Amino acid sequence: MIYKTFRITCSVWIFSILFVSFVYAQRNMPGPFPDRVIMAHGEDAETSVSITWRTDTSISEAFLELQYSPAGPIPKAQSKSYKAETRYFVYEHTAEPSVEVHQHLCVVEQLSPDSRYIYRVGSGDYWSEWFEFSTVAADESKFSFLYFGDPQADIRSQWSRVLRSAYRYNPEAAFMLYAGDLINTAGRDTQWHEWFEAGNFIYASTPQVMTPGNHDYQGLVLDPHWEYAFRMPRNGPEGLKESCFFIDYKNLKLISIDTSVDNELRLEGGTAIKKQQDWLDSVLSTNTKKWVILTTHLPFYSPKESRDNVHIRKNFQPILEKYGVDMVLTGHDHSYGRGMATDNPDKAPSIVYVVSVSGPKMYDAGDKDWMVVKGVYTKLFHEITIDGNELVFKGITANGELFDHFHIVKDKKGKNQIIEKLVNGE
Ligand SMILES: [Fe+2]
Repeated sequence: MIYKTFRITCSVWIFSILFVSFVYAQRNMPGPFPDRVIMAHGEDAETSVSITWRTDTSISEAFLELQYSPAGPIPKAQSKSYKAETRYFVYEHTAEPSVEVHQHLCVVEQLSPDSRYIYRVGSGDYWSEWFEFSTVAADESKFSFLYFGDPQADIRSQWSRVLRSAYRYNPEAAFMLYAGDLINTAGRDTQWHEWFEAGNFIYASTPQVMTPGNHDYQGLVLDPHWEYAFRMPRNGPEGLKESCFFIDYKNLKLISIDTSVDNELRLEGGTAIKKQQDWLDSVLSTNTKKWVILTTHLPFYSPKESRDNVHIRKNFQPILEKYGVDMVLTGHDHSYGRGMATDNPDKAPSIVYVVSVSGPKMYDAGDKDWMVVKGVYTKLFHEITIDGNELVFKGITANGELFDHFHIVKDKKGKNQIIEKLVNGE
């Protein structure tokens, strides 16, 4: 009798474990309905968008339907239809079941400026909802974007709150920028599933811009989601087209360089430093935009006591200073730091460096001289507004409080003045 009870108990346990594993494994599996719909800037960021989504492999042909946003019910027949480029891929990681997908991509070009559009993706009986987005006016009028340091950990449970706070704070932001380490373990589709669940329709309605972090690399290989699950502008140097790129948006040039490639650019004999130096120099030497912001994962100056990326400064800071780059937005250190500095003893600091974190993984920060503002154990997002000669930078906590606030004002010669603003009356 005791033996029989033991057998039944064991069977129930084994069944439960298998059932839980099955349910867990299925959470990130695709179906015939489109999911993970995400928008990014096209090559011409003001008039084109790239839209990516996935389905299971039963959907071999997919489409995007687009039209101007109507005031009332959607006249489906008035849509313009675009056929997607469909690619088969299997996301594999030893820690979880493989995921077989069809990834679909549509690049929509020649959009009208200052217009409101709707679109849906799918085919046959399987369609997404209609998503809405706007294009910008073809001038240098005011706009804002949102910037996030590493999401990385507890993405669905905790990071989602920060993203949604940011969206609530400014739902009309022109784009959202992530300075790397979007997930914790490169290649794990379950973690990407959490990231996509966190943003859902927000990603489909606002262009997403991301530069990779060290956790987005498996050794020397960039997580394949970067190639298949979304599409950044392909204007970077050969071999780094998914991670190194620029976006011209109104009077801003936003540049991503990849400081996580080649073992955080520490690989002996690696070619990524020289390749990016040459590319960066050529992009900046022909720049006509008033504002230049560079984003990358590794901080030029670290808040963390034990960290100092001298090699990043040595290889890139002289180029940034030569061409008057205004600001560098980074992540990686899981704390907050903001300040101006230079390694050139003959020069006054001219670039604002920011290190930030949006997810719940936290490190302490040291008392380093370069920081004007420091933050620890605080999850942040940032709104950056560019309005002619003025840039307004705000750091906002997960619960919506203003944490850091300053302006950069350009004079007639293009020289920047930093104006510190009060935060909570201090
Ligand atoms: Fe990192």
